[in-house]
Amino acid sequence: MIYFDNAATTLQKPKEVAEAVYKAIQNFGNSGRGASSVSLQASRIIYDTREKIADLFHCSDPAKVAFTSNSTESLNTVIKGVLQPGDHVITTVLEHNSVLRPLYQLEQEGVEVSIVPCRENGRLEVSDMEHYIQSNTRAIVCTHVSNLTGNKIDIHAVGQLCRENGLLFLLDASQSAGVFPIDMKEDCISAVCFTGHKSLYGPQGTGGICLGDKITVRPLKVGGSGIMTFEREHPNVMPTALEAGTLNGHGIAGLNAGLRYVLKQGCERIHEYEVALMKQFYYGIKDLPGIKVYGDFSGWDRAAIVTFNIADYDSAQVSDELSQRFGIETRAGGHCAPLMHRALGTEHQGAVRFSFSNFNTSEEVAVGVEAIKTLIYEDMD
Ligand code: ALA
Repeated sequence: MIYFDNAATTLQKPKEVAEAVYKAIQNFGNSGRGASSVSLQASRIIYDTREKIADLFHCSDPAKVAFTSNSTESLNTVIKGVLQPGDHVITTVLEHNSVLRPLYQLEQEGVEVSIVPCRENGRLEVSDMEHYIQSNTRAIVCTHVSNLTGNKIDIHAVGQLCRENGLLFLLDASQSAGVFPIDMKEDCISAVCFTGHKSLYGPQGTGGICLGDKITVRPLKVGGSGIMTFEREHPNVMPTALEAGTLNGHGIAGLNAGLRYVLKQGCERIHEYEVALMKQFYYGIKDLPGIKVYGDFSGWDRAAIVTFNIADYDSAQVSDELSQRFGIETRAGGHCAPLMHRALGTEHQGAVRFSFSNFNTSEEVAVGVEAIKTLIYEDMD
């Protein structure tokens, strides 16, 4: 089997990730609950993971890192935890439903939402955001990278825009954490929402929120906190404020090992390697008859994602054939990115997405290219 669906979940992980989970299951008590040796053991690894996340995103204080189960939980928490009826928020057509659906819900409750369109090539230009700012605008919430095209938004420019206009900047780093540098201070980011199971090479069920200095988030969940038990209100100190209930310590131990791998390799080296695979694939298929590739490929400062269609074939059928005949796993359909598909005209056909990781090889990519050629030329005979 050749796995090219890394934008959904990275399947191949550093072997230390599974080892760390296995070890944690055998040795972890409940972190932050009591002071048994096994509870402290869990707490130590979890704290170390906060430090690694703070290091990765240039966050001033590891205590500002709260763990969640994925980006969707992080985004729901942050979006619903800062916006109130009467506020206005700006987002983009590039967004995943994990941004859009919380915003649509809030819209029903009186939050005004503006959605910035992309250009014809699928790129979002930050200069197009500016004229959406109004007197009640509270935040810009956007993704760093489109999970459909792989194109980036210039987050430094978004951060500057937010700083100049006194707005919160809420970033969805689902597709970029571990691949692109994210600097909360330099890029004026108020909150980074990330997941563990993609380019951080952690287990599913891990993720988190990294808060800047000037933002307070109302918690989505309250309950067990291990401290201030006799208070009626959930503690408002970070990270406990956003971590009601027992943490996924076993998963976080795995995430810790994934982060160790990413920090050791370095985002730049990982990205460079993935770009080489993406280029090989892109140049291998782009001029084949009937191929239409989506997004902007005029430069390589983009995530290792190539999304395309073959003539008017249903994308799910192409993806199924790749899986059944060639053992190549990809993702087709709508990718939870409805507005981007609509903007690219692929609402009905969907598209076939190949997404590469640091564990794919050039040989695998060559097999992928040959498989596409076979599908195309067989059908043309
Ligand atoms: N958001 C993930 C993807 O793009 C699941 O496939």
